[in-house]
Amino acid sequence: MKILVVGGGGREHAIIKKIKENKSVSEIFALPGNGGIAKDATCVNIGAKDIDSIVKFAVDNSIDYAIVAPDDPLVLGCVDALSAKGIPCFGPDAKAAIIEGSKVFSKNLMKKYNIPTAQYEVFNDMDKALEYLESAPIPTVIKADGLALGKGVIIANTRQEAKDAVVSMMEDKVFGDSGNNVVIEEFLTGPEVSVLSFTDGKTVVPMVSSMDHKRALDNDQGLNTGGMGTVAPNPYYTDVVAKECMEKIFVPTMNAMNAEGRTFKGCLYFGLMLTENGPKVIEYNCRFGDPETQVVLPLLETDLLTIMQAVTNETLSDVDVKFADKSACCVIMASNGYPKSYDKGFEMTIPEDICDNVYVAGAKLSEGKLLTDGGRVLGATAIAETLEEAIADSYKMVKEIKFENAYYRTDIGKKALLAKEG
Ligand code: AMP
Ligand code: GLY
Repeated sequence: MKILVVGGGGREHAIIKKIKENKSVSEIFALPGNGGIAKDATCVNIGAKDIDSIVKFAVDNSIDYAIVAPDDPLVLGCVDALSAKGIPCFGPDAKAAIIEGSKVFSKNLMKKYNIPTAQYEVFNDMDKALEYLESAPIPTVIKADGLALGKGVIIANTRQEAKDAVVSMMEDKVFGDSGNNVVIEEFLTGPEVSVLSFTDGKTVVPMVSSMDHKRALDNDQGLNTGGMGTVAPNPYYTDVVAKECMEKIFVPTMNAMNAEGRTFKGCLYFGLMLTENGPKVIEYNCRFGDPETQVVLPLLETDLLTIMQAVTNETLSDVDVKFADKSACCVIMASNGYPKSYDKGFEMTIPEDICDNVYVAGAKLSEGKLLTDGGRVLGATAIAETLEEAIADSYKMVKEIKFENAYYRTDIGKKALLAKEG
C-alpha cells in the first residue's frame, strides 16, 4: 500500500514510524515531512495547507490511504477534498474539524449537551467584552475563537492583563481573523490530562492518557510552547476518573457531534482538567497531539493502520485496541530561545543506535548533513517498565544527541513521579 501523511513535525514522524510496522505498507510519502523524517519516508515539498497540490499528488501517485495529521489542513477541508477523489483518509472532515477550528463552536456544543467545561461568555464586540471584564472574576482566561498556532489562550492574572488581551485580539488582531470573536472563561485549577481517542462516530476508544509540559522552563515557568515533553500514562488519570470521563465527556461528545450532523471520524483529543468538581474539558483538538503522540503511539500494541482503516470504514468496534502496560517519556530538544527567536542551521548528530526512538520535528538535509531548522528540533522517547526508568532513559538519549544551541527542560515527568508517590 502507498500511504500519504500530511504534515512535517515530530507527531508525523511518530505516526510514520508506527505505520511502517505494517507489512502491507510499501511506500510512505510525507508532505512536506522534514530532514529527519526523510530517513523513514519520501518527503515531498508540498505544504500541509496546499490542499490542491496535496490532492493532485495523491491522485497522480495512486495513494491508497491518506493520514491528515495537522489542524490547519483538517479545518481547511483536506479530508473532504481527498475523499471526493475516492482516496480513503484518516481525519475528520471540515464540518467535524470545527470542534478545534472554532472555540465558540466547541463551547456552545458543550453547553448545549451538558458536557462539563469552564463557564464562559462569547463576545464579537470589543467594548462589550471590556465592559464584562470590569466585574469578571480574576484570574480569567481569554481565548481567540479560531486557530492561533496554540497561542490564542491568555491567562490573565489582573483585570488590566485581561483587557490588554482582549484589545490585542480584537483591535490589534494579533491572531488575525481568529480574534474576531473571543471567549472569556472561568479560570479552572487542577491537574491537566491529555486523552487522545480513536472514534468512527459509533465507538470511541480512548488511548493511554498522557501529560504535556507546555511551559518553556523547568517547574512550569516561562512562556507557553507547543510542548516541551510528555509522559504516559498520566498518574492523575485513575480508572475512576477514566470511567467518569467516558460517561460524561467522551461518549456525550461523540453523540453531540452526530446530533449536529458533524460526525467526527479520526483522532479526537480531549484536553482535560481534573478540578475539585470533576473532570472538565479545557479544549478539544481534531487531531493527534504533539508531543503526546510521541509517547502514546510507541505504547500502542495493535497495528495502527488497521485501527485507522477501521475508523474510516466505521468498524472500530471490531478492533481490539491494546496498549503496553509500560511507561513512556519524551523529552523535546529545542533551539535555545524558542518559543521566541532562535538561531538554526546547526549540524545535528544522532547516534545510529537511538535513531528509532527519535522523532524529528525541525530539521533539514543539506549536502547530506542534518541541520536544525525549527524551534522544536526533536523528541527522544524511551519506553520502560516504570516511569522512573523511562525518564532516566530518555534523558540518557538526550545527552547523546548533539547540536549547538540545544535546549531542553530537565524536569519532564517530575510532576508525574511526585503524583505517583503522593
Ligand atoms: P491551549 O492553547 O488551548 O492548549 O491552552 C493552553 C493552556 O491554557 C492549557 O493547557 C491550560 O493550561 C490553560 N487553560 C486553558 N483554559 C483554561 C481555563 N479555563 N482555566 C485554567 N487554565 C486554562
Ligand atoms: N500538545 C498539545 C497539542 O497538540 O495541542
